[in-house]
Amino acid sequence: MKVLRLFQKEAGVGSARFLILAALSGLSNAGILAIINLAASHVQDKEGNLVNLLLFGITIFVFVYTQRSLMVEVCHRVEQLVDRMRVRLIARARRAEFLELEDVGRAEIYSCLTRETLILSQAAPNLVIGIQSAILVIFTMIYMAFLSWTAFILSAACTIIGALVHISRNTQVKAELRESFEQENLLIESMSDMLEGFKEVKMSDARAHAIAQRIEAISHRVTRLRIRTQTTYATDFVFSQVTFFLLTGVMVFVVPAVSEAYTQVVVMTTTASLFMIGPVSNVVGSIPIFTNANSAAENIMRLQERLGRINGHKNGGVSSLADFKTIVLDGASFAHAPAGGDRPFTVGPIDLTIRRGQTIFITGGNGSGKTTFVRMLIGLYPNQGGTIRVDRATIGPFNIQDYRNLFSVIFSDNHLFAELYGQPAPDPVLVSELFELLEMQHKSRLENNRFSTTKLSGGQRKRLAMIAAILEARPICIFDEWAADQDPYFREKFYRVILPLLKEKGVTVIAITHDDAYFDVADLHVHMDTGRLKIIRGEEKALEMAPG
Ligand SMILES: Nc1ncnc2c1ncn2[C@@H]1O[C@H](COP(=O)(O)OP(=O)(O)O)[C@@H](O)[C@H]1O
Ligand SMILES: [Mg+2]
Repeated sequence: MKVLRLFQKEAGVGSARFLILAALSGLSNAGILAIINLAASHVQDKEGNLVNLLLFGITIFVFVYTQRSLMVEVCHRVEQLVDRMRVRLIARARRAEFLELEDVGRAEIYSCLTRETLILSQAAPNLVIGIQSAILVIFTMIYMAFLSWTAFILSAACTIIGALVHISRNTQVKAELRESFEQENLLIESMSDMLEGFKEVKMSDARAHAIAQRIEAISHRVTRLRIRTQTTYATDFVFSQVTFFLLTGVMVFVVPAVSEAYTQVVVMTTTASLFMIGPVSNVVGSIPIFTNANSAAENIMRLQERLGRINGHKNGGVSSLADFKTIVLDGASFAHAPAGGDRPFTVGPIDLTIRRGQTIFITGGNGSGKTTFVRMLIGLYPNQGGTIRVDRATIGPFNIQDYRNLFSVIFSDNHLFAELYGQPAPDPVLVSELFELLEMQHKSRLENNRFSTTKLSGGQRKRLAMIAAILEARPICIFDEWAADQDPYFREKFYRVILPLLKEKGVTVIAITHDDAYFDVADLHVHMDTGRLKIIRGEEKALEMAPG
């Protein structure tokens, strides 16, 4: 079982100390039974029973100490394990490649980070009780064997039958749990679809109804699956109890009739068998929790594997490539995975030289591949064809993050962070200059590296994003249709004031644009058409046409 191996390897459950504690607590538990049985059969012997009373007290003390240490320690270690798993998941998610993350999807990451880890930590106390009850059952069995072989064989048979029933059901239950995990992820996905598109949902009753129906349908499916699994568990649980009731009945009604010698021990074996019902119920009762925890552990580990290996490369915020003179694309290309059976859309092969300090415009129709090209240029999409070189250095897996740190990007569907994460507090003079430049000084402020508000119009949010991008002070700024969200006044300001200012600061700017009135601002103007790049104006040497 994955969860047992996980708990054993990473939380030290199963270490010598753990096993000794569990054995001691199981032994003292069985000891209490033996002492009571012994004392009950010697009620007349007052003196002997005083010793028994003392033993009784000591055994209870051992039980309390070991049991408590065991449970506290296991919960402690398992919580720490869960914490480590969460941290590791976050680390892997953050180091995963963009396409890997897109491929996994948010729902699975959310559910692993929250529900699945919760299932693991909730399983910890049950794990202790389960293992420990199993030990107790074994000890009681040994005691039983000591009292009577007939009783021992009977109870061993019952236990084995119970275990076999569980094992035979396990494959089915596992498949059910896997399916409900997938369905629950669908549930999260549809629910966030509804919440993220709430404006649109609100504006159409028919849409709201259809989405709600879809979510309800998934919810019903999850419920049906859960009920089916729980019913299996409930049936198994009741049967295991009844088996032991029957066992005790057989010991009282049947065995004495066949075996003479048995009559002397009947009370003790019956007590032992009754005593076993509790622990056996614990073991059987913890099976569903185990199975759940096991599938949770599997889900988390599968996600970890899907998010790829953590690469050891660490980066600060400043790129060691920051002094670059040129970025050269040599036959670089990227193809989207073919969605819906179509031909994959391919950008490139592209040959282009970007010189430091240039202002570069990229134009082209909708869907011509401008955004895809830019994402490949900045290392968000892998370059699948030729090479990208920064001066002499070829960009590869070992320096890609360093390379990405060259760029400040405002994507067309950008996410505006309310806080300037990972940046030292900027110079307040520069901040107020930028707020004035973008005319946002009466709308928002930067306090403790956070924007006082980001609840603004689309164009204003893009202006805050511009402030954040300039404050990041990276050598290259990329704007994907930034001006499209601005009014004519701000569009003019963008091309006539902001871009020249960035040029003056030595910042290399790459802007995707449709505003032909301002093409003169660019040093280099390239045009995209169905994934091919063509130079319109600028250094002729900047572009050597791709072969073919
Ligand atoms: N995430 C994606 N997955 C698959 N194909 C995509 C994806 N994004 C864009 N495409 C494809 O790439 C083409 C170019 O898209 P894009 O680069 O966004 O164009 P542009 O920015 O020039 O409007 C689209 O026509 C589409 O077929
Ligand atoms: Mg685009």
